[in-house]
Parts: sequence; C-alpha cells; structure tokens
Amino acid sequence: MPQPITAIIVGAGHRSLVYARYALDHPDRLKIVGVADPDAERRQMAQRYFSLSDDMLFENAAALAQRGKLADAVINGTMDQQHVETAVPLLEAGYDMLLEKPFAINEAELRTLIGAARRSGRKVMICHVLRYAPFYAEIRKRLPALGKIQGIETTEHVSHHHMLVSYVRGKWRGAATAGHHSMLLAKCCHDIDLIMWMKSGIAPVRVSSFGGMQQFRPENAPAGAGNRCLVDCPPEIEDNCPFSARKQYLEHPDRWSFYVWRDLENVERPTLEQKAALLKTSDYGLCAYKTGAEIVDNQTVIIQFADGSIASHNMLTGTPLAQRTIHITGERGEILGRVDDSRFTMRVLDPHSTAEYREETVDLNASGDTSGVKGGHAGGDERLVADFVSLLLGEKPSVSCTSIEDSIAGHMTVFRADQAMETGQVVEIPRV
Ligand SMILES: NC(=O)c1ccc[n+]([C@@H]2O[C@H](COP(=O)([O-])OP(=O)(O)OC[C@H]3O[C@@H](n4cnc5c(N)ncnc54)[C@H](O)[C@@H]3O)[C@@H](O)[C@H]2O)c1
Repeated sequence: MPQPITAIIVGAGHRSLVYARYALDHPDRLKIVGVADPDAERRQMAQRYFSLSDDMLFENAAALAQRGKLADAVINGTMDQQHVETAVPLLEAGYDMLLEKPFAINEAELRTLIGAARRSGRKVMICHVLRYAPFYAEIRKRLPALGKIQGIETTEHVSHHHMLVSYVRGKWRGAATAGHHSMLLAKCCHDIDLIMWMKSGIAPVRVSSFGGMQQFRPENAPAGAGNRCLVDCPPEIEDNCPFSARKQYLEHPDRWSFYVWRDLENVERPTLEQKAALLKTSDYGLCAYKTGAEIVDNQTVIIQFADGSIASHNMLTGTPLAQRTIHITGERGEILGRVDDSRFTMRVLDPHSTAEYREETVDLNASGDTSGVKGGHAGGDERLVADFVSLLLGEKPSVSCTSIEDSIAGHMTVFRADQAMETGQVVEIPRV
C-alpha cells in the first residue's frame, strides 16, 4: 500500500479548506500534517479539523520554509498578492505545491515564480478548477474530431450578487485588497485558461480588449443615497435598491457566507442581529456605488494564435443568473454548450449523411457524471485535488492536469489583454 501524500496548508482560508477536506474523505491518499497562517484562529480551526500536533502550526509561509521540508507538499491558498512571496521559499525548501490562481499578479511576479519553479524542479499545479468540470473535460477529449480548431467563443455572465460580493464590495475590488485591480485576472483567468487548453501547444500571439466600469460609480448612486445601507441610507432609497446589503446578505444569509460573515467565522451560530451589526461596519455594508471599486464590469478580449486561429471572451455583469458558454469551431464541425446545463452539442461534418453532419448531444447529467461530486466549480474542485494527489503518487494524471508551465500562456494573455484595454492598442504576447 502506498503511503498517503502529506501536505501542509499555507493560508487556511476558504479555498485551502475546500481542497484540504479531500484528506478527510480519502485518508489513504492525502494526510494534512500542518498549517501556516498568521491568523491564530484559523490555525486553530485547521488544527481541530485535521488533528494537527502543536509543533506543526506555523505563523506564516516563511516560518514554515525556515524549518525545511516537513511534508511532501503544500496547499497554497493565500491571497493573490501573496502567492509569489509565499511560494518561492517553499519551492526552495523542496515542497511540491498546489497553488491557487492567479499564480502571479503581474508579469514580473510571473517571471520570478516561473524561474523559482524551474530551478527547484518541484511539481507545481495551478487550481484551474474548471478544467476538471466534467463539461469542459469531456469537450476537451472530443476536440480531435473537429480537426484544427479555428475559432473559440466563450462568455461569462457574472451574476449581480457575485459581482457585488467579490468585486464591488469584496476582496477583489482593487489593489488595496488583492494587489491588483484586474477583473480578468480575478474572475476570467479560468476562461482564458480554458481557451489556452483547447488550443494546447499553439501559442497566443496578440490580443486586444475593451472594457470599463459602467455601473457602480459614485455618480450613478440614487440621489440622496447614503454611504452605508444599514446606517445612513434613507429607507425609501434602500428599500428600492436591489444592491442593498440588507437585501443581498441579510435576506440571503447563506449565499457567499464565507466572504460576508468572515468576521463571524468563529461564532458557532451567528444570529441575524450579529450579522446586521457586522454589516454596519464591514465592507459588505457599503453602498454598492461608493466602495471605490477599481475593477471593470464589462470586458471583451480578442486573441489571435500562432496558427491564425482566433478566440474571444466576453465578461458581462449584472445578470440575475450566472452562466458560462463556449462555442468551438473546427475544420470539420463545432461544439457548443453552457456549463450550467452540463450538456453540450457536437456537430461533425459527414459527407455520407443526408443531413451532411452528425449531431450528438452529450448530457453529463444523464450519464451521472456530475452527480455525487462534492464541492463547487461544476464538479471541478474535488477532482482537482484528486488529480494533484495522483500526480504526486506517480500515477497517471488526468487530461485536465495544469502544471504551472501550462498556465503561463493564459496568465500572459490576461496581463497583455489588460494592457490592451488600458492603452487601446493591439498588444503582442511574448513567450516566457
Ligand atoms: N480556483 C478558484 O476558482 C478560486 C475561487 C476563489 C478564490 N480563489 C483564489 O484563492 C485564493 C485564496 O482565496 P480565499 O478567499 O480562500 O482567501 P482567504 O483570505 O480566505 O485566505 C487566505 C489566508 O492566507 C493567510 N495568509 C496571509 N499571509 C500569509 C502568509 N504569509 N503565510 C501563510 N498564510 C498567509 C490569511 O491569514 C488567510 O487566512 C485567492 O488567490 C483567490 O483568488 C480561487
């Protein structure tokens, strides 16, 4: 029997724990043996969940790295701007790493981390969870039937509540909280990664992009609106505002609870009164128009690849429902679908059929492929950790496995797309 992979959590926040829980269900494959986090309460929470010994609690990534290699791997779920500073010393100490996206927040950081990863020779897998959603994985497997891929169109509709909680009021609203103000990096680096994956081996060469923040600007706030929904906004305005913190969070207290009620996470069963009190002081209680958010709410990106093929991605917000769509065209057919349906249609040209093409609807719900999968991202989260463990155990990783090398083109395209949007120029994408 092979021994389980041992791993230390670095940054015991929401994402790390989503991944680390795999160890509780599969103790024969993964064992969490330590935690590094400056937040003492989060360290203790991880200690309780995973029965960690006192000498395996560390105040931060640097303190862990100083101790040398104490486990096979780390699960690095620190915030965006901490990925490189925490990853480099741990790679140098000899850890393999599951690392959250975006793995770097700008090109200089990307080059620093790629250099460290290459020098260390360690395995670094990036959490591009959507590659593991059965919907995308199945599309990826079927691409050869289309011949050369000539065009890819993807869209992401960010629901108004996700937009508000993460990007207008939340941690990704700007440089002060995330170290960057790129919506494309925070939200759509998955979509750009999927495009790169569908075009695997063909480099993106140039990009253009347009976008901006149209809605949540101070000048668009209703006349007379306050600065805080539960403090100084007149009731007749607050009650008619779909973006009010009361409507968004108190009326839906379980939605995005790990963000909104972060400061109550050590209270066993916080009451609605405690939540209302928190909203009077936390960022989630700010008027949506007056948070100082620096991100864009609409962005379109057009990419050209070295083989002449093209791709586009549209990120649109304000929708009542979230959805992602994809349409891939090749020399001999097309695939199109909506991940939210877990169903796609494939049409392949057939000169011998009276219809001139064969059509197949692939319904992953019907095959049961999405049922029973725990975690989020259309089934991607748990499959990703399982694949990381397989990689470390020397088993054959899946088609979705995303090494840091596989993630370079996507991250570079994001950085250059934002540059294109800001300058109004078409921007070249260098190979790194
Ligand atoms: N793959 C996805 O689809 C997906 C989804 C959401 C978020 N994310 C990414 O996951 C990452 C984590 O997000 P989150 O919401 O879980 O973050 P979080 O804020 O809940 O957790 C981060 C933790 O890191 C700790 N930390 C800070 N400095 C540290 C250091 N030097 N050493 C060790 N720990 C340190 C913090 O105290 C905190 O507990 C972000 O980069 C985010 O963009 C990815």
